[in-house]
Amino acid sequence: MSAIGRMVCSLSHDMRHSLTAIYANAEFLERHDMCIRERADLVLEIQKAVLTMTELLDSLLQFGCTGRNNPRVRTCVSLVVEKAVAAVKFHPDGRDVSITVGRLPSAEADIDALNLQSAIFNLLLNACQAATSSTDVPEVNICLAEVDDRIYVTILDNGPGIPASVRSTLFDPFVTAGKPNGTGLGLTLARRIAEEHGGSVCLEESNPKGAVFTLSLTKNRSPDLEDLIVVSPTSSD
Ligand SMILES: Nc1ncnc2c1ncn2[C@@H]1O[C@H](COP(=O)(O)OP(=O)(O)OP(=O)(O)O)[C@@H](O)[C@H]1O
Ligand SMILES: [Mg+2]
Repeated sequence: MSAIGRMVCSLSHDMRHSLTAIYANAEFLERHDMCIRERADLVLEIQKAVLTMTELLDSLLQFGCTGRNNPRVRTCVSLVVEKAVAAVKFHPDGRDVSITVGRLPSAEADIDALNLQSAIFNLLLNACQAATSSTDVPEVNICLAEVDDRIYVTILDNGPGIPASVRSTLFDPFVTAGKPNGTGLGLTLARRIAEEHGGSVCLEESNPKGAVFTLSLTKNRSPDLEDLIVVSPTSSD
């Protein structure tokens, strides 16, 4: 039950962000000053957000039927980063932010791509929200590095840094500051997903000119314990 509770919690959190993007794009579509090309892009983004929600629901159904999480698949992590960047650019809080992508080596790892994309999206969205509240032009940068058997995804922003009121409890659930609709789950979920990939999420730096977060993961994961359990036939079989 606790595993299902965690899954439902993370799914509801991610679906709220997809719904926010759909709502904002639908509002844009009502405007009369848009060309056909812009309208087509907005419709495409709505379709992508719906597909993401469908994938999330599918993973919940799969978990309900089999009791297993999404399987780990060898994937190029830079592709996951690119998808997260594309998704956050269509979120209303990411739309006006200049998001630059730095070095993206084509490192591969055994990952749950959907969950990892969600963790990176949450870090990017926080960075965009913080950058928007700065007096400078909002800027966010993301890059990827490969060191031995680890991959590091680093996200920098030029926002005002982490508010002092939440600095020591940043990764605890329901800790939020300065956001009218913040649930305070984004960092908790991002860190948990990184831990499930043999890594973590750390705050590297925070000052009045910005913040830097790093998500790390291990490239080669040994199979989960539950995958190793062989169900032996009972004596009545
Ligand atoms: N890059 C950042 N710069 C400044 N403050 C940040 C940054 N990232 C996180 N924070 C602070 O940490 C708090 C917790 O972040 P977290 O992502 O867990 O929750 P949230 O963004 O408030 O809500 P949500 O559940 O929608 O993500 C934020 O409310 C914000 O005050
Ligand atoms: Mg957040």
